[in-house]
Amino acid sequence: MTEYNKKAFSLRVNHLMKKVSHDGNILCLLKDVTMHIRASSISAIIGRSGAGKSTLLRCLNGLEIIDSGQILINDQDFVSLEGGARTALLRQIGVIFQAYTLLSRKTVLENVVLPFALQGKVTDTHRQKALQLLDEVGLSDKINHYPAELSGGQRQRVAIARALVLDPGVLLCDELTSALDPKTTFEILALLKRINRDHGVTIVLVTHDMSVVKEIADAVFVLEQGEIIEQGTSIDVLMKPQHAVTQQLVESTVGGDLPAFLLSCIKKDISDDEKVHAQTVMRLIFTNESSKQPIIAAVATQFNVNLSILAGALDHVVDHMFGHLWVSCVHNEKLEDAIRYMKSHGVGVETMGYLSWNM
Ligand SMILES: Nc1ncnc2c1ncn2[C@@H]1O[C@H](COP(=O)(O)OP(=O)(O)O)[C@@H](O)[C@H]1O
Ligand SMILES: [Mg+2]
Repeated sequence: MTEYNKKAFSLRVNHLMKKVSHDGNILCLLKDVTMHIRASSISAIIGRSGAGKSTLLRCLNGLEIIDSGQILINDQDFVSLEGGARTALLRQIGVIFQAYTLLSRKTVLENVVLPFALQGKVTDTHRQKALQLLDEVGLSDKINHYPAELSGGQRQRVAIARALVLDPGVLLCDELTSALDPKTTFEILALLKRINRDHGVTIVLVTHDMSVVKEIADAVFVLEQGEIIEQGTSIDVLMKPQHAVTQQLVESTVGGDLPAFLLSCIKKDISDDEKVHAQTVMRLIFTNESSKQPIIAAVATQFNVNLSILAGALDHVVDHMFGHLWVSCVHNEKLEDAIRYMKSHGVGVETMGYLSWNM
């Protein structure tokens, strides 16, 4: 049984600004980024291409000089650190980039001990550590192979082992799985979850792939034009995206949406007179606990409110079941009471508009 020396850093970014000069112009790549990442959590930074995600990650591991703001690692501002103290802290930040940054002329084992080699000498203890990590990522039989002899997923496993060799407190991953097929992606994410659990290490993933968020992330930060425009738990961001950019990004991740023809028939504002003849369309959002309760039956028996199901889906975020149902209901005096009842039982209720075939 391997003994893990659990280590997890929290990460706090305050008003981070990063500018570059380009063709004589000053471009502000990160305008005002403030975020707090809990120790031991798995966070995803999502955003459109060009939003500044990679730039932000490079700032977090000291590869970029920032223009203003603070980066606190376990409440220690590393931007203000110098010399040995800075190097020592940066060594405890593991990084994995999308492009396989393995050295092609070195074997798998030599690649994994590389961080030790860069510090000076590679000892037997270092090699033992690397072998233990290669075992953990499932590559014990490939230690003497060269990167060209490995699949994409196997190369990322080597990169993960190498990023862990100095016992980091945080692991930063930039589009780790974007070059991989869905099955390999799933395997790599399962490995990261296990590493997070066993080593305690905080994981920050930059991704544009919502299935990564759904599978692994506790928290989500949405970056747009160098600013965090939305943040929250992955369930909240996936189920109730607030910003138009987030809505575009998460569109169709959950599925079970209303067909477009029905959506186009929904009216937002109608008069009270019209409401009497219209059906109210609602989206019910179920999370872990509420997804197990017979809510629809309960509102029918207790309030005589009968909901017709229009569309819906059940899915999972990490290990939480959640889902949503589009329902409609003919005019009913008790509808408000039924909505209150559903909300008090943990079901999110959004009134989406009204359907009337003679409007
Ligand atoms: N050194 C640089 N000089 C000029 N522009 C840059 C530089 N680095 C990045 N950019 C630009 O900044 C924006 C953000 O880049 P990046 O952080 O790579 O975005 P993302 O990873 O979200 O796709 C992009 O429009 C990119 O072209
Ligand atoms: Mg990028």
